[in-house]
Amino acid sequence: MLSRFSALEGLLRHTQPLWQEQPFHHLRLPWWQTHPALCEALAALALPDLQALEQDEAARAALLWPLVPEASELAALCHLPRLPSTSPPPAPAHVPGRKWSQIWAFAQQLGLAAGCGPGHLLEWCAGKGHLGRLLARQGHSVVSLEWDAKLCLAPVSCRRACPNRRCSRM
Ligand SMILES: C[S@@+](CC[C@H](N)C(=O)[O-])C[C@H]1O[C@@H](n2cnc3c(N)ncnc32)[C@H](O)[C@@H]1O
Repeated sequence: MLSRFSALEGLLRHTQPLWQEQPFHHLRLPWWQTHPALCEALAALALPDLQALEQDEAARAALLWPLVPEASELAALCHLPRLPSTSPPPAPAHVPGRKWSQIWAFAQQLGLAAGCGPGHLLEWCAGKGHLGRLLARQGHSVVSLEWDAKLCLAPVSCRRACPNRRCSRM
């Protein structure tokens, strides 16, 4: 586990310039000097190609892996056996469906891994705190850290519903 984590961390650090850029903040692709072939391949894509690639993981891999040498190793490190989990109940109105499925699966694994009752949890990079609220509803005591103050302002009804969760701005 630790060696997988360290390898992932190393590769993510190494490829940081490729994934940390904000979309729509540059007039030209920021990697044109370091990855000219990648930029050329991306610039050659028409909108329908992009939409098709968004739906097709294998096609994305076929396009990108030869152009980003670290990509296949990253994908291999992310390949894990599926853990048991039940399907999530319907998503709350304010949580997008895919996010809700991920949060639900994660919260279930946390319960299985801990193998014990409620504990004290720190949710770092909490965003709007959807995960923290679910864990608080499951009985954990949660402190959520988020540096964007406006995301900490959950509606009063949510705060009342989760008295054992506290959100702090960093
Ligand atoms: C993808 S969102 C998290 C979603 C969240 N887990 C949920 O359940 O809704 C990532 C959040 O991390 C926050 N963030 C990024 N870097 C941070 C840091 N160093 N400390 C605290 N928050 C950070 C961002 O502002 C963003 O709101």
